[in-house]
Amino acid sequence: MKSFPKNFIWGTATAAYQIEGAWNEEGKGLSIWDEFTHRGGKIANNDTGDIACDHYHRYKEDVKLIKKLNCKAYRFSISWPRVLPEGRGAVNQKGLDFYKRLVDELLKNKIEPFATLYHWDMPLALEKDGGWTKRFIADAFEEYTSVIVNALKDTVKFWMTLNEPLIIYGAGYFAGVHAPGYKSLFKSMKVIHNLLLAHAKSYHCIKSIAPQAQVGIVNASSPVFGESEKDAHAAKLAEAFTQRIFLDPIFKGKYPDLIEKKLRLLNRDIKDKDFGIIKNTADFLGLNNYTRMVVKKTLLPIPGFAIQQTTSENVTAMGWEIYPEGIYKLCSWIRNEYGNPPVYITENGAAFDDAINNKGEVLDTQRVEFLKSYLSALHAAIQEGCNVKGYFVWSLMDNFEWAEGYSKRFGIVYVDYATQKRIIKQSGKWYAEVCRKNGLP
Ligand code: FCB
Repeated sequence: MKSFPKNFIWGTATAAYQIEGAWNEEGKGLSIWDEFTHRGGKIANNDTGDIACDHYHRYKEDVKLIKKLNCKAYRFSISWPRVLPEGRGAVNQKGLDFYKRLVDELLKNKIEPFATLYHWDMPLALEKDGGWTKRFIADAFEEYTSVIVNALKDTVKFWMTLNEPLIIYGAGYFAGVHAPGYKSLFKSMKVIHNLLLAHAKSYHCIKSIAPQAQVGIVNASSPVFGESEKDAHAAKLAEAFTQRIFLDPIFKGKYPDLIEKKLRLLNRDIKDKDFGIIKNTADFLGLNNYTRMVVKKTLLPIPGFAIQQTTSENVTAMGWEIYPEGIYKLCSWIRNEYGNPPVYITENGAAFDDAINNKGEVLDTQRVEFLKSYLSALHAAIQEGCNVKGYFVWSLMDNFEWAEGYSKRFGIVYVDYATQKRIIKQSGKWYAEVCRKNGLP
Protein backbone atom coordinates (compact mmCIF):
# COMPACT_ATOMS: atom_id res chain seq x y z
CA MET A 1 0.00 0.00 0.00
CA LYS A 2 1.17 3.53 -0.78
CA SER A 3 0.39 5.44 2.41
CA PHE A 4 -0.13 9.19 2.46
CA PRO A 5 1.00 11.46 5.29
CA LYS A 6 -0.94 11.45 8.55
CA ASN A 7 -3.71 14.09 8.45
CA PHE A 8 -3.66 14.16 4.66
CA ILE A 9 -6.96 15.69 3.53
CA TRP A 10 -9.03 13.66 1.06
CA GLY A 11 -11.94 15.38 -0.59
CA THR A 12 -14.06 16.03 -3.64
CA ALA A 13 -14.83 19.31 -5.39
CA THR A 14 -17.68 21.10 -7.18
CA ALA A 15 -18.60 24.66 -8.18
CA ALA A 16 -21.81 26.60 -7.68
CA TYR A 17 -22.91 27.18 -11.26
CA GLN A 18 -22.10 23.61 -12.25
CA ILE A 19 -24.35 21.95 -9.65
CA GLU A 20 -26.75 24.30 -7.86
CA GLY A 21 -29.46 25.11 -10.41
CA ALA A 22 -32.10 27.41 -8.86
CA TRP A 23 -30.73 30.08 -11.19
CA ASN A 24 -33.50 32.56 -10.43
CA GLU A 25 -34.84 31.38 -7.08
CA GLU A 26 -35.08 33.08 -3.72
CA GLY A 27 -33.72 36.41 -4.80
CA LYS A 28 -30.60 35.26 -6.70
CA GLY A 29 -29.27 37.79 -9.19
CA LEU A 30 -28.06 36.82 -12.65
CA SER A 31 -24.49 35.86 -13.38
CA ILE A 32 -22.55 36.06 -16.63
CA TRP A 33 -23.06 32.31 -17.01
CA ASP A 34 -26.85 32.67 -16.84
CA GLU A 35 -26.62 35.22 -19.62
CA PHE A 36 -24.02 33.30 -21.66
CA THR A 37 -25.90 29.98 -21.64
CA HIS A 38 -29.21 31.69 -22.42
CA ARG A 39 -27.71 33.43 -25.46
CA GLY A 40 -27.90 30.14 -27.36
CA GLY A 41 -25.26 28.67 -29.63
CA LYS A 42 -22.50 28.92 -27.05
CA ILE A 43 -22.80 25.59 -25.22
CA ALA A 44 -22.98 21.99 -26.47
CA ASN A 45 -26.66 21.11 -27.00
CA ASN A 46 -27.54 24.60 -25.74
CA ASP A 47 -27.44 23.21 -22.21
CA THR A 48 -27.75 25.65 -19.32
CA GLY A 49 -27.11 25.51 -15.58
CA ASP A 50 -30.74 26.45 -14.83
CA ILE A 51 -31.35 23.16 -13.03
CA ALA A 52 -27.97 21.40 -13.18
CA CYS A 53 -27.83 18.84 -10.33
CA ASP A 54 -30.53 20.69 -8.40
CA HIS A 55 -28.05 20.77 -5.54
CA TYR A 56 -29.65 23.93 -4.12
CA HIS A 57 -32.61 21.74 -3.12
CA ARG A 58 -30.72 18.46 -2.64
CA TYR A 59 -27.66 19.57 -0.70
CA LYS A 60 -28.49 17.35 2.28
CA GLU A 61 -28.59 14.26 0.12
CA ASP A 62 -25.32 15.36 -1.51
CA VAL A 63 -23.59 15.85 1.84
CA LYS A 64 -24.66 12.29 2.68
CA LEU A 65 -22.92 11.14 -0.49
CA ILE A 66 -19.72 12.94 0.48
CA LYS A 67 -19.92 11.20 3.83
CA LYS A 68 -20.44 7.84 2.15
CA LEU A 69 -17.32 8.46 0.08
CA ASN A 70 -15.37 8.82 3.36
CA CYS A 71 -14.19 12.28 2.37
CA LYS A 72 -12.77 14.46 5.10
CA ALA A 73 -13.28 17.64 3.13
CA TYR A 74 -15.48 19.19 0.46
CA ARG A 75 -14.51 22.02 -1.87
CA PHE A 76 -17.48 24.04 -3.12
CA SER A 77 -17.94 27.56 -4.41
CA ILE A 78 -20.22 30.40 -3.42
CA SER A 79 -22.27 32.15 -6.05
CA TRP A 80 -21.57 35.88 -5.76
CA PRO A 81 -24.92 36.98 -7.33
CA ARG A 82 -26.85 34.56 -5.13
CA VAL A 83 -25.64 36.52 -2.12
CA LEU A 84 -25.29 39.98 -3.69
CA PRO A 85 -27.80 40.05 -6.57
CA GLU A 86 -26.43 43.35 -7.89
CA GLY A 87 -22.83 42.44 -7.10
CA ARG A 88 -22.51 45.20 -4.50
CA GLY A 89 -24.83 46.60 -1.84
CA ALA A 90 -27.95 44.77 -0.69
CA VAL A 91 -27.47 41.25 0.66
CA ASN A 92 -29.91 38.51 -0.33
CA GLN A 93 -30.28 36.88 3.08
CA LYS A 94 -31.90 33.74 1.66
CA GLY A 95 -28.91 33.17 -0.60
CA LEU A 96 -26.47 33.64 2.26
CA ASP A 97 -28.53 31.31 4.46
CA PHE A 98 -28.19 28.56 1.87
CA TYR A 99 -24.41 28.52 2.33
CA LYS A 100 -24.76 28.65 6.11
CA ARG A 101 -27.02 25.60 5.99
CA LEU A 102 -24.64 23.80 3.64
CA VAL A 103 -21.64 24.46 5.89
CA ASP A 104 -23.56 23.43 9.02
CA GLU A 105 -24.59 20.20 7.32
CA LEU A 106 -20.96 19.50 6.37
CA LEU A 107 -19.73 20.12 9.89
CA LYS A 108 -22.49 17.97 11.35
CA ASN A 109 -21.08 15.18 9.20
CA LYS A 110 -17.47 15.95 10.18
CA ILE A 111 -16.57 17.18 6.69
CA GLU A 112 -14.23 20.17 6.50
CA PRO A 113 -15.57 22.94 4.24
CA PHE A 114 -13.13 24.41 1.69
CA ALA A 115 -14.90 27.44 0.22
CA THR A 116 -14.04 29.08 -3.11
CA LEU A 117 -15.26 32.66 -3.39
CA TYR A 118 -15.19 32.92 -7.16
CA HIS A 119 -15.65 30.03 -9.55
CA TRP A 120 -16.54 32.09 -12.62
CA ASP A 121 -20.06 33.37 -11.94
CA MET A 122 -19.56 37.14 -12.02
CA PRO A 123 -22.74 39.09 -11.21
CA LEU A 124 -24.16 40.31 -14.51
CA ALA A 125 -24.79 43.74 -12.97
CA LEU A 126 -21.02 44.20 -12.46
CA GLU A 127 -20.18 42.80 -15.89
CA LYS A 128 -22.28 45.63 -17.34
CA ASP A 129 -19.86 48.06 -15.69
CA GLY A 130 -16.86 46.29 -17.20
CA GLY A 131 -16.40 43.34 -14.80
CA TRP A 132 -12.84 42.02 -14.61
CA THR A 133 -11.59 44.55 -17.18
CA LYS A 134 -12.03 47.42 -14.72
CA ARG A 135 -10.05 48.15 -11.59
CA PHE A 136 -13.12 48.82 -9.42
CA ILE A 137 -13.85 45.09 -9.51
CA ALA A 138 -11.12 44.41 -6.96
CA ASP A 139 -12.95 46.60 -4.42
CA ALA A 140 -16.28 44.98 -5.25
CA PHE A 141 -14.69 41.56 -4.71
CA GLU A 142 -13.29 42.70 -1.39
CA GLU A 143 -16.76 43.87 -0.26
CA TYR A 144 -18.29 40.56 -1.33
CA THR A 145 -15.52 38.70 0.54
CA SER A 146 -16.27 40.59 3.72
CA VAL A 147 -20.01 39.75 3.55
CA ILE A 148 -19.25 36.05 3.15
CA VAL A 149 -16.44 35.80 5.66
CA ASN A 150 -18.32 37.72 8.33
CA ALA A 151 -21.15 35.20 7.94
CA LEU A 152 -18.97 32.07 7.89
CA LYS A 153 -15.87 32.99 9.87
CA ASP A 154 -16.67 30.65 12.74
CA THR A 155 -17.36 27.65 10.56
CA VAL A 156 -15.10 27.85 7.50
CA LYS A 157 -11.33 27.72 8.05
CA PHE A 158 -10.11 27.17 4.48
CA TRP A 159 -10.75 29.78 1.82
CA MET A 160 -9.84 30.03 -1.82
CA THR A 161 -10.24 33.40 -3.49
CA LEU A 162 -10.29 32.69 -7.24
CA ASN A 163 -10.62 29.52 -9.25
CA GLU A 164 -8.27 29.38 -12.23
CA PRO A 165 -7.59 33.00 -13.16
CA LEU A 166 -5.83 31.61 -16.25
CA ILE A 167 -9.09 30.20 -17.57
CA ILE A 168 -10.99 33.35 -16.62
CA TYR A 169 -8.75 35.49 -18.81
CA GLY A 170 -7.86 32.85 -21.42
CA ALA A 171 -11.25 31.25 -22.09
CA GLY A 172 -13.46 34.20 -21.06
CA TYR A 173 -11.61 37.14 -22.65
CA PHE A 174 -9.06 35.81 -25.16
CA ALA A 175 -10.59 32.69 -26.76
CA GLY A 176 -14.18 33.75 -26.05
CA VAL A 177 -15.43 30.22 -25.34
CA HIS A 178 -16.48 30.93 -21.76
CA ALA A 179 -18.60 33.76 -20.34
CA PRO A 180 -18.44 36.66 -20.90
CA GLY A 181 -17.23 35.54 -24.33
CA TYR A 182 -14.80 38.23 -25.49
CA LYS A 183 -12.02 37.67 -28.00
CA SER A 184 -9.72 40.50 -27.10
CA LEU A 185 -6.03 40.47 -26.27
CA PHE A 186 -6.30 43.92 -24.68
CA LYS A 187 -9.20 43.01 -22.46
CA SER A 188 -7.53 39.79 -21.38
CA MET A 189 -4.34 41.63 -20.39
CA LYS A 190 -6.34 44.03 -18.21
CA VAL A 191 -8.22 41.16 -16.62
CA ILE A 192 -4.99 39.49 -15.46
CA HIS A 193 -3.94 42.37 -13.27
CA ASN A 194 -7.40 43.02 -11.85
CA LEU A 195 -7.71 39.34 -10.94
CA LEU A 196 -4.44 39.53 -9.00
CA LEU A 197 -5.52 42.71 -7.27
CA ALA A 198 -8.91 41.23 -6.39
CA HIS A 199 -7.28 38.09 -5.05
CA ALA A 200 -4.91 40.13 -2.90
CA LYS A 201 -7.58 42.43 -1.49
CA SER A 202 -9.75 39.45 -0.72
CA TYR A 203 -6.81 37.71 0.98
CA HIS A 204 -6.13 40.69 3.26
CA CYS A 205 -9.84 41.09 3.95
CA ILE A 206 -10.21 37.46 5.08
CA LYS A 207 -7.10 37.66 7.27
CA SER A 208 -8.33 40.84 8.94
CA ILE A 209 -11.72 39.27 9.79
CA ALA A 210 -10.42 35.78 10.59
CA PRO A 211 -6.67 35.83 11.25
CA GLN A 212 -6.57 32.07 11.84
CA ALA A 213 -8.10 31.30 8.43
CA GLN A 214 -6.00 29.58 5.76
CA VAL A 215 -6.33 31.41 2.47
CA GLY A 216 -5.12 30.39 -0.97
CA ILE A 217 -5.67 30.79 -4.69
CA VAL A 218 -6.43 27.98 -7.15
CA ASN A 219 -4.55 27.85 -10.43
CA ALA A 220 -5.06 25.84 -13.60
CA SER A 221 -1.71 24.10 -13.40
CA SER A 222 0.13 22.08 -15.99
CA PRO A 223 3.76 21.42 -16.69
CA VAL A 224 4.61 23.00 -20.05
CA PHE A 225 6.54 21.37 -22.93
CA GLY A 226 7.66 22.56 -26.36
CA GLU A 227 6.51 20.30 -29.18
CA SER A 228 10.06 20.09 -30.52
CA GLU A 229 13.44 21.59 -29.63
CA LYS A 230 12.63 24.59 -31.80
CA ASP A 231 9.81 25.40 -29.42
CA ALA A 232 11.88 25.72 -26.24
CA HIS A 233 11.47 29.50 -26.06
CA ALA A 234 7.74 29.24 -26.81
CA ALA A 235 7.49 26.82 -23.87
CA LYS A 236 9.17 29.39 -21.61
CA LEU A 237 6.71 32.02 -22.81
CA ALA A 238 3.78 29.68 -22.23
CA GLU A 239 5.03 28.88 -18.75
CA ALA A 240 5.24 32.61 -18.05
CA PHE A 241 1.82 33.50 -19.48
CA THR A 242 -0.04 30.56 -17.97
CA GLN A 243 1.73 29.58 -14.74
CA ARG A 244 4.20 32.17 -13.49
CA ILE A 245 1.91 35.07 -14.33
CA PHE A 246 -0.15 34.40 -11.20
CA LEU A 247 2.55 32.74 -9.09
CA ASP A 248 5.42 35.21 -9.40
CA PRO A 249 3.43 38.28 -8.29
CA ILE A 250 2.05 36.37 -5.29
CA PHE A 251 5.26 34.64 -4.22
CA LYS A 252 7.91 37.05 -5.55
CA GLY A 253 6.09 40.37 -5.79
CA LYS A 254 6.63 40.91 -9.52
CA TYR A 255 5.57 39.72 -12.95
CA PRO A 256 7.83 37.14 -14.65
CA ASP A 257 10.84 38.93 -16.19
CA LEU A 258 10.27 37.32 -19.57
CA ILE A 259 6.89 38.99 -20.11
CA GLU A 260 6.82 41.96 -17.76
CA LYS A 261 7.51 44.56 -20.49
CA LYS A 262 4.80 43.13 -22.72
CA LEU A 263 2.28 43.14 -19.90
CA ARG A 264 3.03 46.76 -19.01
CA LEU A 265 2.85 47.80 -22.64
CA LEU A 266 -0.57 46.25 -23.04
CA ASN A 267 -1.93 47.41 -19.72
CA ARG A 268 -1.13 50.94 -18.56
CA ASP A 269 -3.13 50.38 -15.35
CA ILE A 270 -0.40 48.32 -13.69
CA LYS A 271 0.91 50.34 -10.75
CA ASP A 272 4.12 49.52 -8.89
CA LYS A 273 2.43 49.91 -5.54
CA ASP A 274 0.01 47.10 -6.43
CA PHE A 275 2.76 44.55 -5.89
CA GLY A 276 3.04 45.56 -2.25
CA ILE A 277 -0.58 44.42 -1.87
CA ILE A 278 -0.19 41.31 -4.02
CA LYS A 279 3.06 39.91 -2.58
CA ASN A 280 2.75 37.15 0.04
CA THR A 281 -0.94 36.51 -0.28
CA ALA A 282 -1.13 32.72 -0.23
CA ASP A 283 -1.05 30.56 2.88
CA PHE A 284 -1.40 27.65 0.49
CA LEU A 285 -1.56 27.04 -3.21
CA GLY A 286 -4.41 25.18 -4.90
CA LEU A 287 -3.38 23.24 -8.01
CA ASN A 288 -5.92 21.99 -10.54
CA ASN A 289 -4.15 19.46 -12.70
CA TYR A 290 -5.60 17.35 -15.50
CA THR A 291 -2.99 17.09 -18.22
CA ARG A 292 0.18 18.67 -19.58
CA MET A 293 0.51 21.58 -21.95
CA VAL A 294 2.40 21.20 -25.25
CA VAL A 295 3.08 24.35 -27.25
CA LYS A 296 4.57 25.48 -30.55
CA LYS A 297 6.08 28.83 -31.42
CA THR A 298 4.04 31.27 -33.48
CA LEU A 299 4.93 34.21 -35.69
CA LEU A 300 2.78 36.56 -33.65
CA PRO A 301 5.03 37.86 -30.86
CA ILE A 302 2.24 38.05 -28.29
CA PRO A 303 1.70 35.66 -26.70
CA GLY A 304 4.29 33.90 -28.92
CA PHE A 305 3.05 30.34 -28.46
CA ALA A 306 0.07 28.21 -29.47
CA ILE A 307 -1.26 25.36 -27.37
CA GLN A 308 -1.31 22.13 -29.40
CA GLN A 309 -3.99 19.47 -29.48
CA THR A 310 -2.39 16.28 -28.26
CA THR A 311 -1.49 13.60 -30.79
CA SER A 312 -1.49 10.95 -28.06
CA GLU A 313 -4.21 8.30 -28.15
CA ASN A 314 -4.15 8.08 -24.40
CA VAL A 315 -6.83 10.70 -23.81
CA THR A 316 -9.99 11.29 -21.77
CA ALA A 317 -13.40 12.14 -23.26
CA MET A 318 -12.31 15.80 -23.22
CA GLY A 319 -9.46 14.89 -25.57
CA TRP A 320 -6.98 15.73 -22.81
CA GLU A 321 -3.84 13.62 -22.70
CA ILE A 322 -3.57 11.33 -19.71
CA TYR A 323 -0.18 12.26 -18.31
CA PRO A 324 0.25 11.22 -14.68
CA GLU A 325 3.95 12.18 -14.51
CA GLY A 326 2.69 15.71 -15.01
CA ILE A 327 1.37 16.00 -11.48
CA TYR A 328 4.75 14.84 -10.15
CA LYS A 329 6.61 17.32 -12.36
CA LEU A 330 4.24 20.12 -11.44
CA CYS A 331 4.60 19.59 -7.68
CA SER A 332 8.39 19.32 -7.97
CA TRP A 333 8.51 22.53 -10.02
CA ILE A 334 6.42 24.41 -7.45
CA ARG A 335 8.65 23.12 -4.66
CA ASN A 336 11.82 24.26 -6.42
CA GLU A 337 10.56 27.59 -7.75
CA TYR A 338 8.43 28.88 -4.91
CA GLY A 339 9.99 27.59 -1.70
CA ASN A 340 7.85 24.50 -1.17
CA PRO A 341 4.61 26.19 -0.07
CA PRO A 342 1.73 24.09 1.30
CA VAL A 343 -0.15 22.71 -1.68
CA TYR A 344 -3.60 21.19 -2.13
CA ILE A 345 -4.49 19.42 -5.33
CA THR A 346 -7.83 21.22 -5.53
CA GLU A 347 -8.94 19.42 -8.71
CA ASN A 348 -7.89 16.28 -10.53
CA GLY A 349 -10.05 13.83 -12.42
CA ALA A 350 -11.30 12.80 -15.83
CA ALA A 351 -14.34 12.71 -18.09
CA PHE A 352 -15.25 9.42 -19.69
CA ASP A 353 -18.39 8.25 -21.52
CA ASP A 354 -19.98 6.51 -18.55
CA ALA A 355 -23.07 4.35 -18.87
CA ILE A 356 -25.38 2.54 -16.46
CA ASN A 357 -25.36 -1.23 -17.02
CA ASN A 358 -28.39 -3.51 -16.67
CA LYS A 359 -27.62 -4.04 -13.00
CA GLY A 360 -27.85 -0.31 -12.42
CA GLU A 361 -24.09 0.09 -11.89
CA VAL A 362 -21.59 2.42 -13.51
CA LEU A 363 -18.33 0.51 -14.04
CA ASP A 364 -15.93 3.31 -14.91
CA THR A 365 -12.70 1.34 -14.82
CA GLN A 366 -10.91 3.93 -16.95
CA ARG A 367 -11.51 6.57 -14.28
CA VAL A 368 -10.23 4.21 -11.56
CA GLU A 369 -7.05 3.67 -13.62
CA PHE A 370 -6.71 7.40 -14.21
CA LEU A 371 -7.00 8.25 -10.52
CA LYS A 372 -4.68 5.42 -9.51
CA SER A 373 -1.96 6.61 -11.88
CA TYR A 374 -2.19 10.26 -10.83
CA LEU A 375 -2.28 9.42 -7.14
CA SER A 376 0.77 7.16 -7.52
CA ALA A 377 2.66 10.02 -9.14
CA LEU A 378 1.49 12.39 -6.43
CA HIS A 379 2.63 9.91 -3.79
CA ALA A 380 6.10 9.90 -5.37
CA ALA A 381 6.22 13.71 -5.23
CA ILE A 382 5.28 13.67 -1.55
CA GLN A 383 7.94 11.01 -0.85
CA GLU A 384 10.47 13.44 -2.31
CA GLY A 385 9.43 16.21 0.02
CA CYS A 386 6.73 18.12 -1.85
CA ASN A 387 4.53 19.82 0.72
CA VAL A 388 1.19 18.43 -0.48
CA LYS A 389 -1.49 18.57 2.21
CA GLY A 390 -4.56 17.25 0.45
CA TYR A 391 -6.27 16.10 -2.71
CA PHE A 392 -9.75 16.77 -4.13
CA VAL A 393 -11.24 14.70 -6.94
CA TRP A 394 -13.05 16.65 -9.62
CA SER A 395 -15.83 16.01 -9.26
CA LEU A 396 -18.16 14.79 -6.55
CA MET A 397 -20.79 14.19 -9.24
CA ASP A 398 -21.44 14.66 -12.94
CA ASN A 399 -22.37 18.27 -13.60
CA PHE A 400 -22.58 21.16 -16.07
CA GLU A 401 -19.18 21.12 -17.76
CA TRP A 402 -19.14 24.75 -19.04
CA ALA A 403 -18.89 24.91 -22.86
CA GLU A 404 -19.44 21.14 -23.01
CA GLY A 405 -22.72 21.26 -21.08
CA TYR A 406 -23.84 17.90 -19.71
CA SER A 407 -22.11 15.93 -22.47
CA LYS A 408 -18.99 15.36 -20.38
CA ARG A 409 -19.18 13.45 -17.12
CA PHE A 410 -16.45 14.03 -14.52
CA GLY A 411 -18.21 12.66 -11.44
CA ILE A 412 -17.27 9.77 -9.21
CA VAL A 413 -21.04 9.79 -8.67
CA TYR A 414 -23.29 9.43 -11.72
CA VAL A 415 -26.19 11.84 -12.11
CA ASP A 416 -29.25 10.79 -14.10
CA TYR A 417 -30.38 14.31 -15.02
CA ALA A 418 -33.95 13.25 -15.93
CA THR A 419 -34.64 11.95 -12.42
CA GLN A 420 -31.76 13.59 -10.48
CA LYS A 421 -30.91 10.14 -9.16
CA ARG A 422 -27.31 9.78 -7.95
CA ILE A 423 -25.42 6.49 -8.37
CA ILE A 424 -21.98 6.03 -6.86
CA LYS A 425 -19.72 4.85 -9.68
CA GLN A 426 -17.08 2.14 -9.30
CA SER A 427 -14.51 4.95 -9.07
CA GLY A 428 -16.47 6.43 -6.15
CA LYS A 429 -16.38 3.13 -4.29
CA TRP A 430 -12.69 2.78 -5.03
CA TYR A 431 -11.98 6.35 -3.89
CA ALA A 432 -13.94 5.79 -0.67
CA GLU A 433 -11.45 3.01 0.16
CA VAL A 434 -8.50 5.27 -0.61
CA CYS A 435 -9.91 7.89 1.76
CA ARG A 436 -10.62 5.32 4.46
CA LYS A 437 -7.16 3.74 4.28
CA ASN A 438 -5.34 7.02 3.68
CA GLY A 439 -3.49 5.36 0.86
CA LEU A 440 -3.51 3.51 -2.41
CA PRO A 441 -4.25 -0.19 -2.01
C1 FCB B 1 -11.55 23.12 -14.42
C2 FCB B 1 -12.67 23.87 -13.71
C3 FCB B 1 -13.77 22.97 -13.21
C4 FCB B 1 -14.07 21.84 -14.14
C5 FCB B 1 -12.82 21.14 -14.59
C6 FCB B 1 -13.05 19.97 -15.52
O1 FCB B 1 -10.93 23.98 -15.31
O2 FCB B 1 -12.16 24.58 -12.62
O3 FCB B 1 -14.87 23.78 -12.93
O4 FCB B 1 -14.85 22.27 -15.18
O5 FCB B 1 -11.95 22.04 -15.20
